[in-house]
Amino acid sequence: MKFKIALLAGDGIGPEVIEQAVKVSDAVAKKFNHEINWVPALTGAAAIDAVGDPYPDETHEICSSSDAVLFGAIGHPRFDNDPSAKVRPEQGLLKMRKKLGLFANVRPTFTFPSLIDKSPLKKERIEGTDLVFLRELTGGIYFGKKGREQGGDVAYDHCVYSREEVRRLAKKGFETAMSRSKKLCCVDKANVLETSRLWRETVQEMEKEYPEVEVSYEFVDAVAMRLVQWPNAYDVLITENLFGDILTDEASVISGSMGLMPSASVGSKVSLFEPIHGSYPQAAGKNIANPLATVLSAAMMFETAFGLKEEGAAIRDVVNKSLKEGIVTEDLAEGSKSYGTSEVGDWLAQNI
Ligand code: IPM
Ligand code: MN
Repeated sequence: MKFKIALLAGDGIGPEVIEQAVKVSDAVAKKFNHEINWVPALTGAAAIDAVGDPYPDETHEICSSSDAVLFGAIGHPRFDNDPSAKVRPEQGLLKMRKKLGLFANVRPTFTFPSLIDKSPLKKERIEGTDLVFLRELTGGIYFGKKGREQGGDVAYDHCVYSREEVRRLAKKGFETAMSRSKKLCCVDKANVLETSRLWRETVQEMEKEYPEVEVSYEFVDAVAMRLVQWPNAYDVLITENLFGDILTDEASVISGSMGLMPSASVGSKVSLFEPIHGSYPQAAGKNIANPLATVLSAAMMFETAFGLKEEGAAIRDVVNKSLKEGIVTEDLAEGSKSYGTSEVGDWLAQNI
């Protein structure tokens, strides 16, 4: 098969981790006789510097006309420390999600047997954890009206959801649950928030369409606690944008490192694949960043965007092999020998 993939390296460690995912994807393509046409495009701080827009129209055209988008990371400390900055790299990511209609962010959390001792959580609590978050990605407080009043002394961010926005995300949740253990948890704050009550009401209405799925409703604060206490209690979780942002960072601790967790953002058109970690500016250019989350995002791309299960499995297998053999970056090495970002990428590509 032939694919056109938009390549958005972005900021910080983005370009380094993306380079490894490209190497590994090219190795898989070669092995299985596919042809990938990578089309690089600007996003984030790099795009602000070049054209003054973190998600330029030209990038959008490239993404919209591609079979998939592979994305590195966005964000630069230069903007974080300047609250008055008019344009921020993160706006590029939000604009991209909105314009590409990527309303569901799929974030799996699982453990790697060879890394089980790296997690700060007790082995017996996390062993066998295999759950997936579906985070709503184009609504809620991220996209509501925001502003300042009273000379700047009062600020607000509105959280808005429509029934349809909840429904389409919940539909993905029910479908994912049907393909797994038929357990779905709706995470909300319905004891306080009106938007959460709409979420709960909508999901409750949908239960009859999926009679086999066992649905539970839990408050986000309780889930935050139970997630690290008994992660095995969960399978598929659906939630709104901000809760999902926070809970998925928390959940990444279960796997031992944030540098390991991939994600897919899906909607009605093209899908986007990205690591859940950020741009990690302190490590940029040092060849120390862990490329595995991006490499595993490429595996999700082969599986979900192209329907190529064997290719995805080949990437996962080689990642597991690298972990077992200790071909890892310093975040996972803990005293033993560590490898550079590009060495890990080379090793993976050679061992595909
Ligand atoms: C994520 C990130 C983004 C988010 C930031 C960079 C805007 O934290 O993808 O989880 O909050 O959605
Ligand atoms: Mn986040």
